[in-house]
Amino acid sequence: KNTVKVGLMGLGTVGTGVVRIVQGHQEDLQKQTGLSIEIAKVLVQDVEKTRSLTLDRNMITTDAAELFSNPDIDVIVEVIGGIHPAKEYILNALENGKHIVTANKDLMALHGAEILSKAQEKGCDVFYEASVAGGIPILRALVEGFSSDRITKMMGIVNGTTNYIMTKMSQEGADYAEVLKEAQALGYAESDPTADVEGHDAARKMAILSTLGFHVDMSLEDVDCQGISKVSAEDISYAKKLGYEIKLLGIAQRDDELIEVSVQPTLVHHTHPLASVNGVFNAIYVHGEAVGETMFYGPGAGELPTATAVVSDLVTVVKNMKLGVNGRGSVAPYREKQLKTDDQ
Ligand code: NAP
Ligand code: HSE
Repeated sequence: KNTVKVGLMGLGTVGTGVVRIVQGHQEDLQKQTGLSIEIAKVLVQDVEKTRSLTLDRNMITTDAAELFSNPDIDVIVEVIGGIHPAKEYILNALENGKHIVTANKDLMALHGAEILSKAQEKGCDVFYEASVAGGIPILRALVEGFSSDRITKMMGIVNGTTNYIMTKMSQEGADYAEVLKEAQALGYAESDPTADVEGHDAARKMAILSTLGFHVDMSLEDVDCQGISKVSAEDISYAKKLGYEIKLLGIAQRDDELIEVSVQPTLVHHTHPLASVNGVFNAIYVHGEAVGETMFYGPGAGELPTATAVVSDLVTVVKNMKLGVNGRGSVAPYREKQLKTDDQ
């Protein structure tokens, strides 16, 4: 077999980027994997919608079963978002032996253990790098790069939309509602932007980071969460006069067995590197007992940065297919204990 066929669920901001990267970087992808990657079928809600990308009409469907039950398709890339029906589509796809790449933090924060358990049962890969911090490969860094260390703290800006809003309000005195609309138009915001501005999106990401970084079963309910919707232009302006920026920070720390995870608007002194993380950019400090302090920085949302993470996961799946090691060498972060607990 020379071609890996992909079923792409979703052709919005991220899905469009996935098609562009798979098509635009085909030669490089093939050099790395020895196989060509073809987007064979695309699931959307509305086939009549005007899109920035023209695809063959036969490739597009509104019937998810044409992807998850299709014997020709090897991998499902899920970028429709939300819990339902994304969860059912992914579980169906796994049941049919398809590998999964997803950008869905809502789903992975809430049902990651169940999905990974099913994947393990079926010998399938599930990768979800794009679910946290867009184009920054932070999940791989945690699971692979720091596997020898004991991570004690992760802190940073993990939501692009709110950082874009706070930056524009601070630097240009922009109006909250106007700049939120801009973030939506740029494709940064979630379909319901309440998840961004109330901190829920950041909380889901911090739950995923904590699960991977601390090797615990971090429940979303245990993340103390406050968003930016109550931060006023006056708050930002007073903070600035005192030498501070207000940033929506996610902080996860552990002290012996006590783990605390929170998301809240925080005063950051202008001399601190996080104060200069502007616009859609994200930055995450990871502190390990042995390594000390490290920092990861890059675009946290948007079409091509996010699609880069998705397609890189796809490349890993394809490499695993070539080696016949799917379901074994993946970023398998959830603990055995959690998988068993979820099975019960
Ligand atoms: P989006 O622009 O709203 O696109 C969603 C796509 O999914 C659309 O093509 C839509 O079809 C399709 N869709 C939605 N519900 C569907 C359903 N029930 N059945 C079939 N198709 C359905 O969303 P996005 O911004 O690309 O985000 C996708 C996922 O990536 C989400 O999980 C999000 O959290 C995550 N993510 C996004 C970013 C970002 O920067 N945008 C970054 C990281 C992660 P139509 O086109 O026909 O409406
Ligand atoms: N809505 C999210 C954000 C997308 O603004 O960070 C990236 O996960």
